[in-house]
Amino acid sequence: MSATTTAAIHSLASAADDAPLLEVRDIRKIFVDRDFQTPVLKGVNFTLNRGEMVAMLGPSGSGKSTLLSILGTLMRPTSGSFRMQGRELTALREAELSDFRNQQIGFIFQYHHLLPDFTALENVLFPHAGRLWRETRAGRERAAMLLERVGLRDRMNYRATRLSGGQKQRVAIARALMNQPALVLADEPTGNLDRENADQAFALMTEIQRETGTTFLLSTHDRDLAERCERRIYIAGGVVVDQPPRAEPSSAATPSRPSMRVIAGDVPVVIDHTGNGGSDTDRRRA
Ligand SMILES: Nc1ncnc2c1ncn2[C@@H]1O[C@H](COP(=O)(O)OP(=O)(O)OP(=O)(O)O)[C@@H](O)[C@H]1O
Ligand SMILES: [Mg+2]
Repeated sequence: MSATTTAAIHSLASAADDAPLLEVRDIRKIFVDRDFQTPVLKGVNFTLNRGEMVAMLGPSGSGKSTLLSILGTLMRPTSGSFRMQGRELTALREAELSDFRNQQIGFIFQYHHLLPDFTALENVLFPHAGRLWRETRAGRERAAMLLERVGLRDRMNYRATRLSGGQKQRVAIARALMNQPALVLADEPTGNLDRENADQAFALMTEIQRETGTTFLLSTHDRDLAERCERRIYIAGGVVVDQPPRAEPSSAATPSRPSMRVIAGDVPVVIDHTGNGGSDTDRRRA
């Protein structure tokens, strides 16, 4: 990467501040489906500091994706609150949340969720241009710079379908960074990659986190990768626990399946939730 590129990314990092980036207080989530309720989060508390890379671990079905959806403001908690950069997000209305999400939060999912008919560059531009496609020259330059940063300079104009799995996930990393978010939420970002590509993608996220001061919270089942993060948060039984939970699925676990199309920071995605297909009126449908 050129010095200019590093400087360009660096200069876009958010201003340092001693206050925690994110304060999560007693978040609870109960999915309600007609006659029965599924309590998933039972009072989650933790804090994320600015610029740290934190892994979130927990058995399948323990609520990691649910929590990331809540913190990403894609789903409302049943109760509890969280503040990001001093703003109480649970108090914001839908339109305010949407703007906040688009500007402050980047998403990376297990499956890249790129728009297949768009080029790598257009996919990265999407959070900036929006559905009405109002791109600027500065936006296009930043998208190109980010693609260069993730090593895809020679693939910018390839359609997403013509990229390898590892390349697609690198485009997804670049896309998450497009609007210079303060926080990147990554739900098993390497879960669909082989070891080599997983290591590459993780190394890339770590480098970018260090260069830009962007905070990363990533869920993973990969303990090796989690050990390389600065800190680990363990979720079990619906709460944050001090010790790694035993590596066994929780009784509530069910196989993962894509369940819903939503708009995340103007990026169409399918959230990969386990579940029984129960309705959750909090989720927005595209
Ligand atoms: N819409 C829903 N209605 C009812 N229950 C749901 C719904 N969505 C998720 N759940 C339940 O919430 C629990 C937590 O699911 P979640 O996807 O958050 O787990 P996870 O920790 O991300 O698991 P994995 O590691 O397998 O991705 C699961 O038991 C699931 O069945
Ligand atoms: Mg999950």
